[in-house]
Amino acid sequence: MTDILEATGQKQLTQQERFEKTRTLVFTESSEACRQLAKEVADLIEKRRKENRKVVLGLATGSTPVPFYRQLVRLHKKGLSFSNVITFNLDEYYGLTQDHPESYYRFMHDQLFDHIDIPKENINIPDGTVSLDEVYDYCHGYERAIVEAGGLDLQILGIGRTGHIGFNEPGSAVDSPTRMITLDRVTRADAAADFLGIANVPRSAITMGVGTIMKADRIVLMAWGGNKASIVRDAVEGPVTDQISASFLQQHEKAIFLVDSAAATRLTRFQYPWLVGSVNWTAPMIKRAVIRLAEEVGSPILKLTDEDYNEHGVGELLASTNTEAYHVNIDVFNEVQHTITGWPGGKKDTENEPRPERAKPVQKNVLVLCPEPSDAIVGMAGTIDRLVEQGHNVRLVVQTSGNLRVRDVSARNFAGVILEMAVLAQGKGWENQRQYADSILEELEEKGEFGIDSALVRRLKGLILRGEARDAGDVCGLEDSDRISFLDLPFYETGRYRRFRLSEEDIEVMKKILNEVKPHSIFATGHVGDPSSMQALCFRAFFEAWEDCKDQAWRKDCYVWLYRGKDSDVSTHEIDMAVPMSPDQLEQKREAIRKFQSITGDEFDSPFDNQQIAKEYDKLGMAEYEAIEAFERWT
Ligand code: F6R
Repeated sequence: MTDILEATGQKQLTQQERFEKTRTLVFTESSEACRQLAKEVADLIEKRRKENRKVVLGLATGSTPVPFYRQLVRLHKKGLSFSNVITFNLDEYYGLTQDHPESYYRFMHDQLFDHIDIPKENINIPDGTVSLDEVYDYCHGYERAIVEAGGLDLQILGIGRTGHIGFNEPGSAVDSPTRMITLDRVTRADAAADFLGIANVPRSAITMGVGTIMKADRIVLMAWGGNKASIVRDAVEGPVTDQISASFLQQHEKAIFLVDSAAATRLTRFQYPWLVGSVNWTAPMIKRAVIRLAEEVGSPILKLTDEDYNEHGVGELLASTNTEAYHVNIDVFNEVQHTITGWPGGKKDTENEPRPERAKPVQKNVLVLCPEPSDAIVGMAGTIDRLVEQGHNVRLVVQTSGNLRVRDVSARNFAGVILEMAVLAQGKGWENQRQYADSILEELEEKGEFGIDSALVRRLKGLILRGEARDAGDVCGLEDSDRISFLDLPFYETGRYRRFRLSEEDIEVMKKILNEVKPHSIFATGHVGDPSSMQALCFRAFFEAWEDCKDQAWRKDCYVWLYRGKDSDVSTHEIDMAVPMSPDQLEQKREAIRKFQSITGDEFDSPFDNQQIAKEYDKLGMAEYEAIEAFERWT
């Protein structure tokens, strides 16, 4: 086991890692990395205590460090004291008071400080409420306080999809100090769910600068989940640029990235292993190499030449299989071609054709798992429509109520309509409804713009979203209400984003639905992405239930297809089934997405992503479609 803190100082990389300019350790699971890091930090704290010295930690917020903080709390319960620890947090949203549910002050206390014995005066978090004319001096003071504490011994970082560390958005200079910055659109979109809508996300923040971070003695950046894979590769392997502030860590003497296997997938050693050593040329590896080659050369697969293979580092593929480009091209072309199907549930009487889905049984039980009500519509509305049209028993199962994403205004409007109806009915028989609407309005008023919704309000919001999901389902052919089930998984109902925890009850609910539907095909999402995200937890609930069902007869003949959510992209080589859409079908998908009026988010980008995939297929030499919904087969 590599010692993480020791490894921050080591630059020698193996041949496999030669593209990585910052040392990167890959762990199977984030929990494993966090357990080890927490143990090492605990050892450092203990060692310093014995020497009568302090430890100064720079801390981050967001989903990434949550499992690390849980480990620190666990170690504290076993006797570790934080009395000799001083902390400085990276950042705070500008304009949020300490008691705001999304303030980083509140986050840090909920996740860590309230559960350990750190002295209050040792905690430093930028104050988001200093007045504009005081910000400059305030930030200066924050820098000075770090210096006076002896400088940061260890800085913990996450990374945003813009490549930011702290809130150092693109354009931040390597020597930038603690200051006020404007948040990037992508960063605000990522925080939209926490703030119940992008409009509520603050536009600016106070953050330690890149320069402040770079002065730390050691730096550990953590990244979990497939949605961080591209930015991790850019930061670790790409050029140092102020467009990706995490890339500056390449210039730090003792910086390290800790990533889980999903966040590591785009590093050269995993994505293109033939570029860093000899590989065993399996069929999936050949497909990946040829698609990459075609994309790099900008040529359709069938036009790639022996020279193209040689000049782009894939000559070994031809040599080791003792063949010419022409033959490899045809094999891979056919393989990609066979991923395309207008029959996502399989096509009758085609047993002997290479198709993604089995021909039999002709009529399948298809279970579509949808973490929040809009996810499956965004990911696969066109495919749902085809499955229904082709006669399969499709069941759309919405795992959570999604009520946290519904805007207050929708609940308020609903209550308003009830009150007007009560007036029209002149009160007769409408007393209960009026009382209900009054309670909704009062409870909304009481919690204010950012407060936590009462159970009553959450229930109403969930019901509003159910209506929208039914409307959207209707557009995709799921008119019959039995075809949509709402599970309202318990973990979601008691939590907030980033703070959910699965329980046995969630798994039981999932098991029940699996055994009820007895599916031949399951469509699921959440397999990539931050492990603490809602979609990932829904996938985990499914996975555990699936494992528990391993002796069931239906499971022996069940395919699981994975669709992508709105914040995770798919590489062409990963696609096992590509379901094409005509312009009309794409328009229909847009219409289905538009039914989700009560929520905010980036749902509308999805048809654009579907068009992107179609363009990539077209460039490889496949037929030119308007759009494609893509699936991976889970094995
Ligand atoms: C938080 C911070 C940010 C986050 C980054 C990733 O204090 O400074 O840089 O680390 O936005 O956020 P998560 O972990 O939520 O993906």
